[in-house]
Amino acid sequence: MSRTVSKSDWHPASWQAFPASQQASYPDKAELERVVAELSRLPPITTSWEVDALKAHIASAQRGEAFVLQGGDCAETFDACTSEDIVSKLKILLQMSLVMIYGLKKPVIRVGRMAGQYAKPRSADTETRDGKTLPSFRGDLVNRSAFTPDDRIPDPQMILRGYERAAMTLNFVRSLVDGGFADLHHPEYWDLSWVSHSQAAEEYQQIVSSISDSLDFLETVSGREFHQTQKAEIYAAHEGLHLHYEQAQTRFLGRKGRESWYDLTTHFPWIGMRTAEMEGAHIEYFRGIANPVGVKVGPGMTREWIQDLVRVLNPHNEPGRLTLIHRYGVKRVEEQLPDLISAVKETGSPVLWVCDPMHGNTESTADGVKTRRFDNIMAELGAAFRVHKKMGTYLGGVHLELTGDNVTECTGGARGLTDGDLARAYKSTVDPRLNYEQAMEVAMRISGL
Ligand code: PEP
Ligand code: CO
Repeated sequence: MSRTVSKSDWHPASWQAFPASQQASYPDKAELERVVAELSRLPPITTSWEVDALKAHIASAQRGEAFVLQGGDCAETFDACTSEDIVSKLKILLQMSLVMIYGLKKPVIRVGRMAGQYAKPRSADTETRDGKTLPSFRGDLVNRSAFTPDDRIPDPQMILRGYERAAMTLNFVRSLVDGGFADLHHPEYWDLSWVSHSQAAEEYQQIVSSISDSLDFLETVSGREFHQTQKAEIYAAHEGLHLHYEQAQTRFLGRKGRESWYDLTTHFPWIGMRTAEMEGAHIEYFRGIANPVGVKVGPGMTREWIQDLVRVLNPHNEPGRLTLIHRYGVKRVEEQLPDLISAVKETGSPVLWVCDPMHGNTESTADGVKTRRFDNIMAELGAAFRVHKKMGTYLGGVHLELTGDNVTECTGGARGLTDGDLARAYKSTVDPRLNYEQAMEVAMRISGL
C-alpha cells in the first residue's frame, strides 16, 4: 500500500495533488476559484452533530440492530426541486420504512439520495451526435443536458445553484418531518391499489393491516397520534463526485480539542465505483473527512484493493465510519460476493454491508431503452441475503434508485410492466428507477426476506 494514512498531511484541497477522474473541465478557472471561495463562506447544508448521529445509527446497523434504507433518484434535477417532488420522495421513503420496520422488527434508518445528488460519472468525456462532438452532460451541478455548445460548457455558477437547491430541498424535508406529515404513516392513506394485482396480494394485505393495527394500538395506548410520539429522521446522501463542491463545504468543527473535518454538503457521501482507485483524488478527499462514508463495490474489485480501501478509509476501525455498497448484478453476486466479504473480514474493520441491486442489473430493451427488471432486482437482493447469512455477516441495508411517482422505467412488479410500457412515462435522464408501486413492493418483499 503506497498511500499514507496520516492525517497531518491532509486538508480539504489536498485531493488536488492527485489524479481526479470524472471531473468537469472548466474553461474559466478563475471563475471556478471565485465560486469555490463563495461556497466556502456560505453556511453548511448539514451540521456536524447530525452527521455524528447518523454515524452512531450506522454503527448500530453494523451490529445488526438496525437496517438502512437508502433511496432516491439516479440524478436529481434542478427542475424537480418542487414541493410535489420532494413530498413524493419523502412519502415513499417513509412508507417503505414503515413496512420494513414491521417486517424486520428493527429500526430503519432512512437515507435519501437527495439534496445534492446532482453530479454524475459518465462513460465518456464527450458525446457525438450527427458528427458534432460536445462535452458529456455530467449532471445539473456541472452543465446542461441540451446538446448545444453553450449548454454543455461546464459552468461554475451551477455549483452555487446546486448548493441552493440542495439547501431548499433539505429545508423543506426538515419542515415536513417536524410538522408531522401525519397521514403518511397510516396505510389507510396509502395508494395500495396495485396490491390486488400481485400474486402475493394476500401476504401484502396482511402486512398492511398489521401495520394499521399496530399504529392504532400505539395511538390508543399513548393517547397521541403516531407522528407526535415519533419524529421521523431523514438523512441526506449523494455521490461525492464533484470534489470542488465537497471541498468548499468542508469545515473543521466539533467538541473542543476533538475537532474534525466534516463534509457538510450532506450527511453521508459515497464514492462511486468509477472513482474508487487507490491513487485517485476521491480516496484522498474521503480519507480526511469525519462523515460516515460509503463505497460502491462491484465486479473488478480485488481482495488487495478492497483491503487497501478499508485500511485507508477506516485506519482506526471506527464503528459507523464505513459502509460497503455492493452492486454485482444477479449473475455475479453469488460467485463474487463471498470473496469480497472474506477479504474485508481479514481487515478487522467493522463495515456496514448494503446491497445495491440496481446498478449491476441495467440492460437495454430491443428498442435500446435502458431498463432494469424487477425480478432481477429481487433475485440479487435475495442472493445477497443468502450469501451474507452463509458467510456469517449481516446485510444491513439496501440502496435503491426509486421515485414516489408513477413512472415506467423498470419492468415487472405487481402490474407486470413490459418493455412496451416503458415509453408511457419514462422520465429519468440517467438510470431507470423503481416507481412508487414497485418500490413499495420491494419493501414488502424485504420484509419477507
Ligand atoms: C449511481 O449510484 O448512480 C452510480 C453511478 O453507481 P455506481 O458507482 O455503483 O456505478
Ligand atoms: Co444510477
